[in-house]
Amino acid sequence: MMIQGFSKLDREGKIELLIRHNHLPAEETELLYRYLHSQDQALFDDISENTLSNYLLPYGVAPNFRINGTTYGVPMVTEESSVVAAAAKGARFWAAHGGFQTKVVQTLKLGQIVFTHHGSEDLLQQLLPQLREHLVHAIGHLTANMERRGGGIRSMAIHRIENVPHTWQLLVGFETADSMGANFINTCLEMMAPELRLFLEKQFPELPSPEIVMAILSNYTPDCLVECTVSCPVDALAELAGNLSPLAFARKFERAVLVARHDVHRAVTHNKGIMNGVDAVVVATGNDFRAVEAGVHAYAAAEGCYRGLTHVDLSDTHFTYRLQLPLALGTVGGLTGVHPLAKLSLTLLQNPDAPRLMEIAAAAGMANNFMAVTSLVTHGIQKGHMKMHLSNILNSLGATPAEKELAFIHFQSQTVSYSQVDGFLKKMRHHG
Ligand code: MEV
Repeated sequence: MMIQGFSKLDREGKIELLIRHNHLPAEETELLYRYLHSQDQALFDDISENTLSNYLLPYGVAPNFRINGTTYGVPMVTEESSVVAAAAKGARFWAAHGGFQTKVVQTLKLGQIVFTHHGSEDLLQQLLPQLREHLVHAIGHLTANMERRGGGIRSMAIHRIENVPHTWQLLVGFETADSMGANFINTCLEMMAPELRLFLEKQFPELPSPEIVMAILSNYTPDCLVECTVSCPVDALAELAGNLSPLAFARKFERAVLVARHDVHRAVTHNKGIMNGVDAVVVATGNDFRAVEAGVHAYAAAEGCYRGLTHVDLSDTHFTYRLQLPLALGTVGGLTGVHPLAKLSLTLLQNPDAPRLMEIAAAAGMANNFMAVTSLVTHGIQKGHMKMHLSNILNSLGATPAEKELAFIHFQSQTVSYSQVDGFLKKMRHHG
């Protein structure tokens, strides 16, 4: 059955309708009311549509991130156990060995106007300088403010869309200062699109009228790029090397990173470990994690083959580890100034500009990936994960604090699985 007019109902009406529609006991929805915010609910209601309640995730801080000589406590929002702990561990290790060196390579973002054109490429390309001048002039009133902030339009190029007949794109490069820029870019592009159509109509009156297919920013941001490097003498890796010598550990680490460059199964997981850190910062600062995810993975596949995003440079005495990834982030606009915890995150990070936030998120990605690969080539990851995993299972089974305490002791030397923990609790409860 289709639900009509859901958005028009107030919160109570929506919840009642859900109860009826899903044959839920009314108590089930009590949770929705319990997670409403006592002060800021109106604010959260306005962030999205049909808001019934709020979905909480842990908000934590990984301390001791030394990035280009400045130390940060990095706020992280994640649902995954051990991400914050791994970031903190990586940060602490590298703080003692020179910290994270980061550099923003470029901050250009792209948008595209896709259009049809039935004429030759040569003529179209010849017109580009004139077209650019026309479009920049036509939206001057929109870009003036951004230009004052150091941003604006930086480039325009025309490309044929391969394999789609008579279809082209105007690829526009933007600097968006400290904003992520999605709204600015989309507004500019939508304003330029009809101007582009009129311009082409005028230049090519003999051809079929051009059609604007769409005007939209691109989340592929290979020119909005940040690098993060860590480096230390091989001997300094001793404390991480487990049973291995520091050099054997470094060589194994290097091999693991090479595997991630050349094997897609490993590459995706390797990069996921980077994104564990990056996304947690992106979410904590109110940025768009879907945009970042889409852009990073496309970049990882830019050579036509999906690759790990990190590199090792290893000599007999020195270990260097590098990460390069695109991150289109903002520190003004969007949710950054609306969500109270996003604002707090930026305050905790000493109110960074957008490039600085790119550096911090990259360092978080590096810390998480470095610790993940370190675990994988030594004792494996389950050892570190188990305590949190056990805690999650115990909570899901409604364990009391006393039961938890006994379970933590028992499972120190036992394999943790849902059924094992369930069995343990049942036995304990049975025996009183
Ligand atoms: C788990 O969230 C992330 C890892 O799988 C990353 C990796 O394998 O490098 C541990």
